[in-house]
Amino acid sequence: MPMHAPVPDAPLDFHGRQILIDAIDAAVALKDDAATVQALRSALCRMMREQSVRLPDCVLQTVEGHYARRELYVSPEHGYGVIAMTWAPNQGTPIHDHSGLWCVEGVWHGQLEITQYDLGQRDGDRYRFVEVGSLIAGTGSAGSLIPPHEYHVIRNASDTDIAVSLHIYQQTMTRCGIFNDLGDGWHVYACKQLSLDKAA
Ligand SMILES: [Fe+2]
Repeated sequence: MPMHAPVPDAPLDFHGRQILIDAIDAAVALKDDAATVQALRSALCRMMREQSVRLPDCVLQTVEGHYARRELYVSPEHGYGVIAMTWAPNQGTPIHDHSGLWCVEGVWHGQLEITQYDLGQRDGDRYRFVEVGSLIAGTGSAGSLIPPHEYHVIRNASDTDIAVSLHIYQQTMTRCGIFNDLGDGWHVYACKQLSLDKAA
């Protein structure tokens, strides 16, 4: 009896989907990480300002216990991935890396607190970080990171409002490094498998 591959979910449609894909394709065609992320930051800000891209309604639904990650698109040609994240009040991440991938993110709704760190010291699996800055990213703003400057925390600092952000990763990111606070100035590394929440 022939084996059949699982049928993938139908592509998620939303207003402006092709505008988003065309903009990312054009940015990655620049073949220079700094130029690509700069073009993507500008493109995301423009899409949000002009409302030419509207994310599907599912991104307004929070998930209890963790911020939601919904995959909106993966490029079969270039391999980049687009993830919408939904942050309930006070949901956030530990210090984490991006597995060496560049990333651009835009804040579609609400606001997020982003704190960046540099690596200060390493002793095996234990790391010390130095905070290099913190900012509040409001609706309509976009930021980016290019490794090795990739250690950061994202948090919805609001006690009442949700936040929604769109993240474009150089390649589909299935795992990343997280750094758990040992409480004595050191953080211990763990590899986290990243899960996806249902997008519909
Ligand atoms: Fe991140």
